Amino acid sequence: MPNIAIVGAQWGDEGKGKIVDLLSDRFDVVARFQGGPNAGHTVTIGKDRYALHHVPSGVFRPDARIVIGNGTVMDLAKLIEELDGLSEAGIDVSGRLYISDRAHVILPILKRLDAMDESEADDATRIGTTLRGIGPTYQAKAARWGLRLADLADVDSATELIRRITDGPAGDRLRAAGEEAGDPEQIARQANEQYRRLEPHVSETSMLLNDWLDEGMNVLFEGAQGTMLDLDHGSYPFVTSSNTMAGALCTGLGIAPTRVTGTIGIFKAYATRVGSGPMPTELEGAEGDEIRERGHEYGTTTGRPRRCGWFDGVAARYATRINRFDGACISLMDVLDSFDEVRICVAYRHDGRKLDSLPASVAVAEQVEPVYETHPGWKTDLTGVRRWDELPQTARDYLERLGQIIGTEVAVVGVGPERDQSIFKPGSWLARQLDL
Ligand code: IMP
Repeated sequence: MPNIAIVGAQWGDEGKGKIVDLLSDRFDVVARFQGGPNAGHTVTIGKDRYALHHVPSGVFRPDARIVIGNGTVMDLAKLIEELDGLSEAGIDVSGRLYISDRAHVILPILKRLDAMDESEADDATRIGTTLRGIGPTYQAKAARWGLRLADLADVDSATELIRRITDGPAGDRLRAAGEEAGDPEQIARQANEQYRRLEPHVSETSMLLNDWLDEGMNVLFEGAQGTMLDLDHGSYPFVTSSNTMAGALCTGLGIAPTRVTGTIGIFKAYATRVGSGPMPTELEGAEGDEIRERGHEYGTTTGRPRRCGWFDGVAARYATRINRFDGACISLMDVLDSFDEVRICVAYRHDGRKLDSLPASVAVAEQVEPVYETHPGWKTDLTGVRRWDELPQTARDYLERLGQIIGTEVAVVGVGPERDQSIFKPGSWLARQLDL
C-alpha cells in the first residue's frame, strides 16, 4: 500500500488541505510533520467551510487516524479551541487523534517575541510572519531551551524549565522593552491545565506510526506552508522556521525515508505569496487584482491580502528537484477562466544573463526579471467540469505545458473548493497508486 506525501510546492496556500481531505479516505492515517498554527488549511464540505491550523485535514474522515508529529509546534490554547470547534461541528476525534509528546509548545512569551521581532524590524528586514510565535519556538528548540509537550506533565519541573526562559535572554528582551516576562509557576500551571485537556491524545507517535506501517497501514503525510518557505531551501531569510519539503517528514515524524512511496506537489495555476521576500512574477496592477478577487486570495490565518502573480516555472522546477515529485496537483485552475491570455515564467534574467534556477542570494532574487511564455486563455467556466476529457483543449495544453516546465506530470486539477471539483488524470502515477 502506498504512503504518499502531499507537499506545498510554492509559497504555501496551494490548497493542500483540500487534496488531503479528498485523498484521506484511501489512507488509514494522516500525519502532519512540521509547522504550527501559521498554517491555515481550508476544507469545504458541502455548505460547511473549516479552517484547520494544527489538526491534519484528514480529520473529516471518521475512520482516519490523525497524527500531529514531533516536528510541529503547538499553541495549546488554539489547539484546544480548534478541537472544541470540531467537536461542536460533530467531528469526533476521541481515540483517533495522536499528538506527539515530543512536539514543542508555543508559550505565550514566545508569541510575544515574534510580535517584538516584527515590530522592531524595518521595512527591509521584516519577514511578515503570521505572528503565531513560530520563529521564536523553533529558535528555542534549536537553542535547546524549548519545552516539549511531555515537559508539561509535571508543574514543578515545567516551572524550572520555564524559569530558564523568563530569567534568560528571552525574559531580558521583554524587560528591556518595559514588559514583564511573567511568573514561571503561573505559566507552568496554565500550560499543565492545557496539557491535562490534551493528555488522552498525547502519545509516542513515532512508535505508533512505525508499528502501523509495519502492520501494513498506509499513511498520507500532510505538509504545511510550501517549499519556497523552507528554512534551508526557500528564499532565506524570508521563510518560515521549519523545513517544509518532503524530506522533513522523516525527522518530523520519526520514520525512515524508505517508508515513503512517493510525493505529490501541490501548485496553484498561478502564484501567491504572503509576507515579505522575492516574488519574481508578482503582478501589481489589474491582473494581480483580478487573480486576488477571483481566487479569494486572502490569508486563512491572518486575513492578509496575498501577493498574486503568474505561475513561476523556475521556482516550480526547483521544488520538483528537491522533493522529487511523482506528480503535480494544479489547484484553482478556474481562477484563470476569465483571462484572454495566461503567462508562465520559464526563466529569470539577471544582469543580462539568463538564470534557470533560483539564486541563493535574496538580493539577486529581488532583482531578477521573469522571462514569460504566453498561452491563450480557455475563456470557459471550468467549475462544472468533472472529467479530464471535458477540459477545453486550451486548458489541457496549458496543463501539459505546466507539467513539462515543472518536470512532473499533472495528476489532478482543482476547479473549485468542493470535494467533487477535482479532476484526476486517468493513468497518472497517483491514479495508479490509489486505483482512482
Ligand atoms: P511564520 O511561519 O509565521 O514565522 O512566517 C514566516 C513566513 O512564512 C511569512 O512570510 C509568512 O507569511 C509565511 N507563512 C507561514 N505560514 C504560511 C502559510 O501557511 N501559508 C502561506 N505563508 C505562510
